[in-house]
Amino acid sequence: MTLTFLLNGESVALGDVTPTTTLLDWLREARGLTGTKEGCNEGDCGACTVIVSDETGTRPLNACILLMPQLQGKALRTVEGISGPEGQLHPVQAAMIAHHGSQCGFCTPGFIASMACAHLNGERDHDRVLAGNLCRCTGYAPILTAARAAEPAAIPAWMTQDRNIIWPEIPSGGPEGRGADSPPALLQPQSADEAARLYAAHPEATLIAGATDVGLWITKQLRDINLPIFLGGCTDLSTAEVTDRDMRLGAGLTIARLMQTIAPYHPSYAAMLRRYGSEQVRAAATLGGNIANGSPIGDNAPALIALGATLHLRHGDTRRQMPLEAFFLGYGQQDRAPGEMIEAITLPRQPDRLRCYKVSKRFDQDISAVLGCFNLTIEAGRITDARIAFGGMAGIPKRAAHVEAALIGQPWTEATITGSDAAWAQDFAPLSDMRASADYRLCVARNLLMRHFLEDQGIATSVLEVQP
Ligand SMILES: Cc1cc2nc3c(=O)[nH]c(=O)nc-3n(C[C@H](O)[C@H](O)[C@H](O)COP(=O)(O)OP(=O)(O)OC[C@H]3O[C@@H](n4cnc5c(N)ncnc54)[C@H](O)[C@@H]3O)c2cc1C
Ligand code: FES
Ligand code: FES
Repeated sequence: MTLTFLLNGESVALGDVTPTTTLLDWLREARGLTGTKEGCNEGDCGACTVIVSDETGTRPLNACILLMPQLQGKALRTVEGISGPEGQLHPVQAAMIAHHGSQCGFCTPGFIASMACAHLNGERDHDRVLAGNLCRCTGYAPILTAARAAEPAAIPAWMTQDRNIIWPEIPSGGPEGRGADSPPALLQPQSADEAARLYAAHPEATLIAGATDVGLWITKQLRDINLPIFLGGCTDLSTAEVTDRDMRLGAGLTIARLMQTIAPYHPSYAAMLRRYGSEQVRAAATLGGNIANGSPIGDNAPALIALGATLHLRHGDTRRQMPLEAFFLGYGQQDRAPGEMIEAITLPRQPDRLRCYKVSKRFDQDISAVLGCFNLTIEAGRITDARIAFGGMAGIPKRAAHVEAALIGQPWTEATITGSDAAWAQDFAPLSDMRASADYRLCVARNLLMRHFLEDQGIATSVLEVQP
């Protein structure tokens, strides 16, 4: 297949790129565009940030874990294309100079890409926007000052070019043969139907959505990826539909889109997702990838289980569904047959009672040590229903069935919470690892229920709200 995209306003068509080549390697090694830097090579530091646009918008992405076929039909802007064609500085570049936002300069191209993207999108929450960019020497105050100083400046004309494109006839991709001279095959379905058919026919293949996990298999584990099926072209997998009865979330929804979709209905879920990775990670990672990887510390599963979510799987034209918690059979084991993909998640519409509490060592860009999600129904001061699910407390995302049973029918009081103490150890025997000890995990899980109670009493419990 030919891979076509725009690079800093110029058309590029590649017929010979290996599908698992990262954009960072291609830019630096094949194109000599060395402004984009490699720091961590695992999506954590933002030194490799680039700007990617398509018909759905413009977003910052980490080039180190972005695979070349993910650029199909998109417009890419690297730091070399952020200054003007005559070398004019972008307002964020001028502001970084004026406010001394750079010292060694290694992180600077990544910051500039994130800042220029935010400037284009009119984003003003610079703490959030820059949380995925690490600087080891300048310190963040001058960088944030520069970002604020650039806010009123007009968007340079060359930066609006990408979003105004009407992309002419994006090649449809489709299956490629492994001819003697062909690069390794890849599949690029353009719809959920095509993806389901191809995956059923090639169960040995690897589905790739945002590549925020798969990218690391390549860069860190040096794994060979067997026949990649890139799902990015399946726009019908990325839809969200909300009716009076339920909410249907496509597997291909990015975490950024999920966050926007869920915010009006379950704000605590959206607030938790604000702490999922960084802007760059949330713009790439998908809901389906986060569930399919079966991680016991994935942030979506506990929230969705607490909301009573249903998982929709598809093998060719055969569909089946199950309560989400039933999908996780054991550590590294899910109820998914070879060639079967996740198509969507549905949630019943319900009054919002969900509380999600993510406990991690850092506020931003950190994996959960423990994630507790509570969906309690309280009527006349009594708990009439309870769905509680945790991440980080077992080898799978898991419901707290004994705690739920201990709470249902009881008054919503401090005594009920302390009375449920014994049930926690019946539900969970967590492990000690580098993120937290088993004792800490059990203790913090109980405390999160207390936190929920105190919050209901109007007491501030978030570190962002508690004043000294
Ligand atoms: C820097 C960084 C920070 C992160 N922070 C967090 C965090 O805070 N919280 C958190 O939960 N996770 C975090 N992650 C993990 C990662 O973002 C998620 O697991 C992500 O949701 C995976 O989605 P993806 O689309 O990138 O999946 P991919 O990497 O494309 O795929 C992951 C797995 O899912 C499979 N897959 C993808 N789509 C489907 C489908 N539709 N059906 C069946 N299988 C499918 C793939 O074959 C693969 O096995 C972080 C990752 C990085 C690199
Ligand atoms: S090199 Fe660190 S995020 Fe890409
Ligand atoms: S300027 Fe040196 S790492 Fe940021």
